[in-house]
Amino acid sequence: MPVYLGQKAPDFTVNTTQGPLTFSDLKGQWVLLFSHPADFTPVCTTEFMAFAEKYDEFQKLGVKLIGLSVDSIYSHIQWLRDIKEKFGVEIPFPVIADIDKEVARAYNLIDEKAGTTVRGVFIIDPNQIVRWMIYYPAEIGRNINEILRVVKALKFNWERKLATPANWEPGQKGVASAPSTFQDSLKNEKEPGARTWYLRLVD
Ligand code: BEZ
Repeated sequence: MPVYLGQKAPDFTVNTTQGPLTFSDLKGQWVLLFSHPADFTPVCTTEFMAFAEKYDEFQKLGVKLIGLSVDSIYSHIQWLRDIKEKFGVEIPFPVIADIDKEVARAYNLIDEKAGTTVRGVFIIDPNQIVRWMIYYPAEIGRNINEILRVVKALKFNWERKLATPANWEPGQKGVASAPSTFQDSLKNEKEPGARTWYLRLVD
């Protein structure tokens, strides 16, 4: 069954540049799984370096980064060595060699025409539920700051049980859930931060 937002993330056991990895062993942690079309391609190289640059921030947020493509482990190793040699950037996260496309199929990541993975991003919560999924075109590199913003918003929601308004940034108010009874609607519009009976911003 393919992956769906709000559903259990498919489990897998794979070979990575940092050794074998079983996804279900990561239960209890936030995971950011992202796929790229191919090793040794220009946009993907910029993305890997951009993820590496923000690695410490992901670590501080308790998020485990995992890369993935259908390239072999030897291709991944050679590419990571090349990035280190040419750009002086060490890639600190594991990269899955999904040569039989098992993970790519489970996460609906295959570009059937190209036979490669698309640019996918999944944020998976500590209960291993898929909380965010997004696909980018092959020609468009991802914005790592936006990915970090979504991680922070999801963690804010997880910890505070508040939603976030449009363009939310850390430190800003959250959105209280809307009342579901007529009586509660009358109460809610009198609470601090109420803009109307169904919209209330709270710290
Ligand atoms: C790139 O990473 O540059 C790329 C990969 C696949 C298709 C187009 C661009």
